[in-house]
Amino acid sequence: MFFSIMSGGSMHSVLVGLVCLAIASAISCSSVGSSNNIMCLESERHALLQFKQGLVDKSNALASWKSEKDCCKWRGIACNNQTGHVTSLDFSFSYDPYLNSIEVPFRGEISHSLLELPYLNYLDLSYNDFEGTMIPKFIGSLSQLKELKLAGANFRGPVPPQLGNLSNLHTLDLYGNQVVSSENLEWLSHLSSLRYLNMSQLNLSEAVNWPESLSKLTLLTELELFMCDLPDVNLRSLSFINSSTSLQLLDLCYNSLNSSIFYWIANVSSKFIHIGLQGDQLQGPIPDVFKSMLSLASLDLSFNQLEGGIPKSFQNLCSLESLTLRSNQLSENIEDSIKNLSCAKNTLETLDLIGNLFWGSLPDLARFSMLRELNLAANQLNGSLPESVGQLSSLEVLSLVQNSLSGVITEAHFLKLSRLQSLAISNNHFSIN
Ligand SMILES: *[C@@H]1O[C@H](CO)[C@@H](O)[C@H](O)[C@H]1NC(C)=O
Ligand SMILES: *[C@@H]1O[C@H](CO)[C@@H](O)[C@H](O)[C@H]1NC(C)=O
Ligand SMILES: *[C@@H]1O[C@H](CO)[C@@H](O)[C@H](O)[C@H]1NC(C)=O
Ligand SMILES: *[C@@H]1O[C@H](CO)[C@@H](O)[C@H](O)[C@H]1NC(C)=O
Ligand SMILES: *[C@@H]1O[C@H](CO)[C@@H](O)[C@H](O)[C@H]1NC(C)=O
Ligand SMILES: *[C@@H]1O[C@H](CO)[C@@H](O)[C@H](O)[C@H]1NC(C)=O
Ligand SMILES: *[C@@H]1O[C@H](CO)[C@@H](O)[C@H](O)[C@H]1NC(C)=O
Ligand SMILES: *[C@@H]1O[C@H](CO)[C@@H](O)[C@H](O)[C@H]1NC(C)=O
Ligand SMILES: *[C@@H]1O[C@H](CO)[C@@H](O)[C@H](O)[C@H]1NC(C)=O
Repeated sequence: MFFSIMSGGSMHSVLVGLVCLAIASAISCSSVGSSNNIMCLESERHALLQFKQGLVDKSNALASWKSEKDCCKWRGIACNNQTGHVTSLDFSFSYDPYLNSIEVPFRGEISHSLLELPYLNYLDLSYNDFEGTMIPKFIGSLSQLKELKLAGANFRGPVPPQLGNLSNLHTLDLYGNQVVSSENLEWLSHLSSLRYLNMSQLNLSEAVNWPESLSKLTLLTELELFMCDLPDVNLRSLSFINSSTSLQLLDLCYNSLNSSIFYWIANVSSKFIHIGLQGDQLQGPIPDVFKSMLSLASLDLSFNQLEGGIPKSFQNLCSLESLTLRSNQLSENIEDSIKNLSCAKNTLETLDLIGNLFWGSLPDLARFSMLRELNLAANQLNGSLPESVGQLSSLEVLSLVQNSLSGVITEAHFLKLSRLQSLAISNNHFSIN
């Protein structure tokens, strides 16, 4: 199933996609961008036919390209409705089990003829199978491109630095091409219009200059570098950085980064909403680097070796919705730690501290009125469960498994827990009334 749009962000394309899925598969969605009597240009039609010739189209997905003369009406194509120029080429593949699709991804070669589409601003070839070939260098010459999506398309080899010439690019998605690498990310720093970058699961193990390159992308709001084997930050590079970016979402999970990444993050933006550093090599106490990130809503530092507790600087985080610190070596008194989340009392929905060494007894949690998930399993909590837990009327998940809690559990503990879906309290010393 693939679909086309004129322009706009990835959210737009998702919405259009959903609309298309809702219609019967036989109906072409590709006429969305074309209308009236504007026809496509002969030169562009010719270029598209050449492009088609390079592809192996096993399931004959492009059959409509023969019968219809106006290439603006072809599947996957959209044109400017005033000029008839081809603006969008959406060949992303996605298997749709509900439509019992017999389609298979395209294979083959990406033809240079795309260079004859001078107004192309959207190119999506994601999830096709380019059989371990390189990302073509000429893509760097499609100078009008605003969105380039080549996710999961089985490319191999280095990213061609020519992509750095795409100065109008807003969205670059190279996600999931595991054997694509980049030794040097200098080319990235030229993409001065970039808003969204996804290079998750590329091999960036040699890209030592990544902090400098990324901090030059001043309009970037979303950065996904999950499992890229990023090398540790060289602290000296921080002299280049001056809270220069607009970054709001950062995913650096599973990169083996050490704690100096905290300082890069603190310096690169104060507008963060989501930060993910799960599965890195963070050690020592959680530093005070988050204290000026007043919009921070979600922070995931799970599966590291962090020590200490939830620091006092978290008292500034009044928008926090989700805090996940699972599987670290945090070993403070639970009451002191939770106290430091007091400003998030009206926002916090998820508190996940599983698998740490928190000790002491649970404080009164009734103020955290939005709490939906409270997971404190596998710690060293003792004392009794405060009855105020029963006031958490939004609570859906409560786990206290494998602690040393004791005392009597009564009806009062469940007084307002009408939304509770999952309750786990085994491996404690409770007696139940
Ligand atoms: C032409 O395209 C523009 C921009 O995509 C859109 O806003 C407009 O409604 C379209 N006009 C027609 C007649 O389809
Ligand atoms: C831009 O493309 C030219 C060739 O068209 C190439 O020589 C140059 O290195 C490219 N610049 C970048 C930053 O990639
Ligand atoms: C990533 O690239 C480096 C150097 O090119 C190589 O040594 C390493 O094995 C690659 N990593 C993976 C997971 O393929
Ligand atoms: C971007 O990367 C993340 C992993 O960091 C992945 O889960 C996500 O699906 C990617 N987004 C797109 C639009 O491909
Ligand atoms: C950092 O920002 C300050 C004030 O915003 C400015 O005066 C200074 O020149 C900047 N430094 C660098 C290295 O850009
Ligand atoms: C992190 O790694 C860098 C590069 O190897 C090193 O210079 C730095 O001292 C390390 N920092 C910490 C806190 O371990
Ligand atoms: C980076 O952030 C840390 C912590 O907020 C601060 O101490 C340090 O001075 C900053 N470094 C630069 C170069 O801005
Ligand atoms: C939380 O803040 C209090 C001061 O309010 C401080 O004494 C305590 O050490 C902090 N907790 C942790 C785990 O750092
Ligand atoms: C909980 O454990 C701590 C030390 O681990 C101990 O000092 C404290 O007395 C215990 N509290 C209760 C109520 O058992």
